[in-house]
Amino acid sequence: MARHLITSAIPYINGIKHLGNLVGSQLPADLYARYLRARGHEVMFLCATDEHGTPAELAAAKAGKPVDEFCAEMWGVQAKIADGFRLSFDHFGRSSSEQNKKLTQHFAAQLDKQGLIREVSETQMYSHADGRYLPDRYIEGTCPNCGFEDARGDQCDNCTKQLDPVELINPRSTISGSTDLEMRETKHLYLRQSEMKDQLDRWIDSKTDWPILTTSIAKKWLHDGDGLQDRGITRDLDWGVPVMKGDAPWPGMEGKVFYVWFDAPIEYIACAQEWVDAGKGTDWERWWRTDKGADDVRYTQFMGKDNVPFHTLSFPTTILGSGEPWKLVDYIKSFNYLNYDGGQFSTSRGRGVFMDQALEILPSDYWRWWLLSHAPESADSEFTWENFQVSVNKDLADVLGNFASRVTKFCRSKYSEAVPAGGAYGAREEQLMSDLAAKLAEYEAHMEAIEVRKSATALRAAWALGNEYLQEVAPWTTFKTDPDQAAAQIRLALNLIRLYAIISSPFIPDASAELLDAMKSDDDAWPTDIKAALAAMPEGHEFAVPEVTFRKITDAERTEWQERFAGTRD
Ligand code: 2FM
Ligand code: ZN
Repeated sequence: MARHLITSAIPYINGIKHLGNLVGSQLPADLYARYLRARGHEVMFLCATDEHGTPAELAAAKAGKPVDEFCAEMWGVQAKIADGFRLSFDHFGRSSSEQNKKLTQHFAAQLDKQGLIREVSETQMYSHADGRYLPDRYIEGTCPNCGFEDARGDQCDNCTKQLDPVELINPRSTISGSTDLEMRETKHLYLRQSEMKDQLDRWIDSKTDWPILTTSIAKKWLHDGDGLQDRGITRDLDWGVPVMKGDAPWPGMEGKVFYVWFDAPIEYIACAQEWVDAGKGTDWERWWRTDKGADDVRYTQFMGKDNVPFHTLSFPTTILGSGEPWKLVDYIKSFNYLNYDGGQFSTSRGRGVFMDQALEILPSDYWRWWLLSHAPESADSEFTWENFQVSVNKDLADVLGNFASRVTKFCRSKYSEAVPAGGAYGAREEQLMSDLAAKLAEYEAHMEAIEVRKSATALRAAWALGNEYLQEVAPWTTFKTDPDQAAAQIRLALNLIRLYAIISSPFIPDASAELLDAMKSDDDAWPTDIKAALAAMPEGHEFAVPEVTFRKITDAERTEWQERFAGTRD
């Protein structure tokens, strides 16, 4: 059995994420982690909150809380919601941890030692009233091109002209509104990614099995325009990892912090240290250091497409450039965007369904199923309430849920709450088993290739095979003339419920657990031999009728939710 390290892009701390964020990283990562565990592999699945940067500071200020307090609270909120969606992280860490601080400072020192960091003098807008330098997007003013009064420091939203904050007429701070601004000289550290360009290029070229979405974005950044640019990795902010060379001061960098995108991916490693320090494990290095056993590990990352440049270029520069034996990613699964009902999800306008709200209206399996079976893999995809209702009602309620309830209720009324004896399997049953074996093999192949939608399609088809069988052999009719034959049909169908519970568990873990529970089976081993798996519950094995596993979404609910989530959250 192999060892798998899996990380999901770590969500920003500043707010609750929407369903588009969820399906772009955490959820498919969880699907894969659950599948691999179910197949008996050793898995380390890590995620964390991304806590540094200006948005975190501003969100804390808006909430009227010190930023560290705000982050601690929001970590709790996000951890609880992740739990609600059954995201099975081995650890949910924090990029503001002491471990990440130390490790980030360590990487910076190593990169410096390898000649991969240079100092650059820049001028930047300083706000006296705010007592800080302002990032471009926190400066607004009148556009010199079109006269629009609310142009941002980096771009005018009215005429789309790219701007430099100095070009703005009457610039002001968006934090305080102050116009008491001045251009000041400040020094920053740059990561010399350009030095690594050829090495990165060869590395990306060697990844012929990666999704095109991943490699095409990496290639664009490597080759478009002047090619891969060096990147500033420090900021004049208070909140973040203080710039230090390991545990030594960095002359000239006093009072500065590392850029959030420098320390965030390092948290993937620090998170494993946090996992040890939380008493959940003993050896993080065997996951992360190739000199300590991690060369046996297969490392897969999950993320939305906007995160790809940082994971294909910047973070690998940190890893490779350190000159130390850190584990490099083996496979990067990236996603397009999920849109919401004819537009975009909008955090600021509260448009769309956010993770907390989703769980308030329906159990997580409903969302997991829809999101994963519509994952934006080859293109952007769209959430509509009509589609959600159809998917849930058809796939979950009519096909899977109905199968389980019909079979168990029929057995209870005609025989007992135990697998009935009598009859024998014939050609139709043999056919079903061979069809199922083929479908299962297809499902496994897609899961292994992390083809999320195709996996869902294969699973749905496996459910449908059982339904078609039941419709065709109609035990309720057979029963009237040949109760023994009907018993054999029901015996197979009951065993099928157990099989479905096991193979569906990566997608819908709660319903799977309920079904397995109702089948009173503690054998949840992945089926490797269909015939044997469908004989796991022998004649006389007791079961219970499951509670309603899936209910239907009514038209009234659909309309109500459509209106409720159209925009303007709080
Ligand atoms: O886009 C985002 O939500 C970022 N917070 C992802 C960071 S992933 C990583 F590098 F840690
Ligand atoms: Zn303009």
